[in-house]
Amino acid sequence: MKIKYLNLSEQWREEKAKLLPIISRSLDTGHFVGVKGEEILKFEKKVSKLLKVKHVISVNSGTDALTLSLYALGIKRGDEIITVANSYLATTGAIVHLGAKPVFVDVLPDQNIDPKKISNKITKKTKAILPVHLTGRSCKMDEIKKISNKFKIPIIEDCAQSFGSKYKNKFCGTWGEAGCFSSHPLKNLSGIGDGGFVVTNNSKIAKFIYQTRNHGLKNRDEMDNFGYNSRMDNVQAAVLNFRLTRLNFIIKKRRENAKFYFKNLNKKNIFFPRENKNEFNTYHTFVIQADKRNSLKKYLRKHNITTYIHYPIPIHKQKPVRKLKLDVRNLKNTDNQSKKILSLPVHHNLKKSQLKYIVKKINTFYE
Ligand SMILES: Cc1ncc(COP(=O)(O)O)c(C=O)c1O
Repeated sequence: MKIKYLNLSEQWREEKAKLLPIISRSLDTGHFVGVKGEEILKFEKKVSKLLKVKHVISVNSGTDALTLSLYALGIKRGDEIITVANSYLATTGAIVHLGAKPVFVDVLPDQNIDPKKISNKITKKTKAILPVHLTGRSCKMDEIKKISNKFKIPIIEDCAQSFGSKYKNKFCGTWGEAGCFSSHPLKNLSGIGDGGFVVTNNSKIAKFIYQTRNHGLKNRDEMDNFGYNSRMDNVQAAVLNFRLTRLNFIIKKRRENAKFYFKNLNKKNIFFPRENKNEFNTYHTFVIQADKRNSLKKYLRKHNITTYIHYPIPIHKQKPVRKLKLDVRNLKNTDNQSKKILSLPVHHNLKKSQLKYIVKKINTFYE
């Protein structure tokens, strides 16, 4: 039996008959790029209704969603942004590109930021808190929100991995000033190329990003500020509109697969955070923290099971970040987890027989 981590060509085959006419119709409109494409406007409207937010601004990637949101807050050289070091590089990249300084806080056993460690890191220079809802699990947003209110520091949420995830019945991305999403092909809500979007109830931030993603233009010919080119393609939005109709099914399947792992995986040598009662997790990844992780990964590879490590090198250990000479003491959980984490296949096309095979191989490895 051969089990891929994710099978994008299988997903394409499954959807091809429905997607090709949609793509063709979108191309027939002659709107390829631009911010007024029919599918783009439809996508922004749909997401706004779904997440119950005032504004949705589609952009070219999750990275741009983060960069433009921080930029909209006025983040500049010398400012400090509190975040985590176990995310994808883009979270810190967005901060560094604006000249600001990332300030890393350690994570909880569930891999998300430890709210109790945030206040100690706040200084006069702190201009935002940037929690990352890693693996499709929300951070403890009520606690983070309290800190944000107390110190009057805005929250920008990195929701690249957590479309549809909730905490206390409230969607990720709707707790802070802005929520930043990615629709990269590997995400639960995925396009067929790069894409992303920002959600916000703050009209000033929305206006700034609407203009800045399109060269700073306020109408066809006039600009308020210099901006960037970060528009979502109309065809990308058409695919996302279609895939939005399948999202509940995809999340349901992923949740069922996670449940199967919870029930059947060996719990002696592997730790995996359960879903607590406040959470609704969408399992962008299903990450175990395993003893002898590297040998387990090799063993699974030998038995034709593909797994990944998200991410093997924490950001504070990457070369350009080491050069910044940040305070990286007290990142014990981040460091320990990077040696143990392993992402198992959890996608919606997994068959029961494949799940059983994965569990059997992992449990046999520890026997
Ligand atoms: C946590 C996190 N933040 C940001 C990003 C960046 O998103 P994108 O690849 O769409 O630029 C990703 C995507 O991999 C991510 O997983």
